[in-house]
Amino acid sequence: MQIQVKSPNISLRPSSATVNQQGHLVIGGCDCTELAAKFGTPLWVMDEQTIRDAVNCYKAGLSSYPDSMILYGGKAFLTLAICHLLDSLGVGLDVVSEGELYTAEVAGFPPDRLYLHGNNKSERELSSAIAVGARIVVDNIAELRSVGRLAHKQERRARIHFRVIPGIQPVTHDHIITGHYDSKFGIPLEQLDEVLDLAASLAPRVEVIGLHAHIGSQALEIAPYLENISVLAKAAASMQARLGNRVQEIDVGGGLGIKYSENDHPLAIYDWAKAVAEHAAASFHEAGIGTPRLLVEPGRSIVGTAGITLYRAGHLKELPSGMRYLAVDGGMADNPRPITYQAKYTACIANRMNSSDTEKRLSLAGRYCESGDIIVKEANLAASAGDLVAIFGTGAYNYSMASNYNRSPRPACVLVANGAADIIVERESNEDLIRKDRVPERLLRRPNE
Ligand code: LLP
Repeated sequence: MQIQVKSPNISLRPSSATVNQQGHLVIGGCDCTELAAKFGTPLWVMDEQTIRDAVNCYKAGLSSYPDSMILYGGKAFLTLAICHLLDSLGVGLDVVSEGELYTAEVAGFPPDRLYLHGNNKSERELSSAIAVGARIVVDNIAELRSVGRLAHKQERRARIHFRVIPGIQPVTHDHIITGHYDSKFGIPLEQLDEVLDLAASLAPRVEVIGLHAHIGSQALEIAPYLENISVLAKAAASMQARLGNRVQEIDVGGGLGIKYSENDHPLAIYDWAKAVAEHAAASFHEAGIGTPRLLVEPGRSIVGTAGITLYRAGHLKELPSGMRYLAVDGGMADNPRPITYQAKYTACIANRMNSSDTEKRLSLAGRYCESGDIIVKEANLAASAGDLVAIFGTGAYNYSMASNYNRSPRPACVLVANGAADIIVERESNEDLIRKDRVPERLLRRPNE
């Protein structure tokens, strides 16, 4: 079946974004001012169409390769609803914790499409993965020993990948490179033979089915990804020779960047996937390993552009220096990326999309008690108190990295499609904030009691 690629343009807005006659931003057929009135602010809004389009673009790009699967990186954004949506699209899931695994299980996600990652998996995590039949992406030799022991104890077979360090460094923020020689993730290629020999001694309880490497996140160029595939192809050939078994799967990682601002020029998903599929076919052929199943592991590029955050603008502060701060009702607790990675975002006034006025030196300040809590520096919007501000590109690593800093309840999240908006994560309440608090008895006593 031919897959339609709907959205080849690289946009920082969700695919369904339009502006209605009142000049309001509309996502998934829902007027953002109505969403804010109904669900409150801050509000995370996820556009279902953008997620579907992203998955279809990956599928279309990979279609020249005989056998491939998208493994969505759940760390970008994972809820029960997202598991259901991605399952319905035939996508697999990369989980990195008991919590992510639990979410997938509760959603009824098929275990044979689950892959457990992580550089320090607990015995409980490994045991659950073996029990449900999820694949385990083994990070180090000690973990391999645990997998062997736990599989033996459960009298089950653990199907594993080895994560290797390819020694490749894409251009991105230092905190999110993962395939460089000194990485804390994965097995150095020099130690692969030793690990394979141990794995062979653990057969048949441990079955080595594949190899994996992930080089980093928000990378905008294709070359490092292709280099990674070449490294994996060679490593797979030596693995095949040493184990005498066919390598069934090669997981080339995720990391494709998205457009956060007009200065970002990422590759289109389709182009990335097509280049990856073609290079994989050629390198695997050259390495003599046939056509193992090709896995790609995108997180951000599936959900990032789908998400926007709606904030209500509060006070405008004008300083003698000419600096202007328009404070919004959220900030680093719902989006820690600007303060963590100096990430740049693009904002608009969702209730006055047709206004072309700009306000020089106006920054959007968060409401949290740190000077670094600035959501968009010099957004230069002509926004004022009461306006509804939308930030684009907040679908990935916002909800999943959010906190309760300053004892703030986390916002709600709605999924929008065809004019319907459904809550997929409820807004936290003040009661939620104190639910796990306990006061020792002695502190409850008055001094003279
Ligand atoms: N696979 C592995 C093994 C990963 O570690 C990651 C992301 C992915 C796949 C998905 O990468 P993506 O396609 O989303 O780039 N918090 C940071 C990003 C951390 C990425 C961690 N690993 C941020 O907000 O930029």
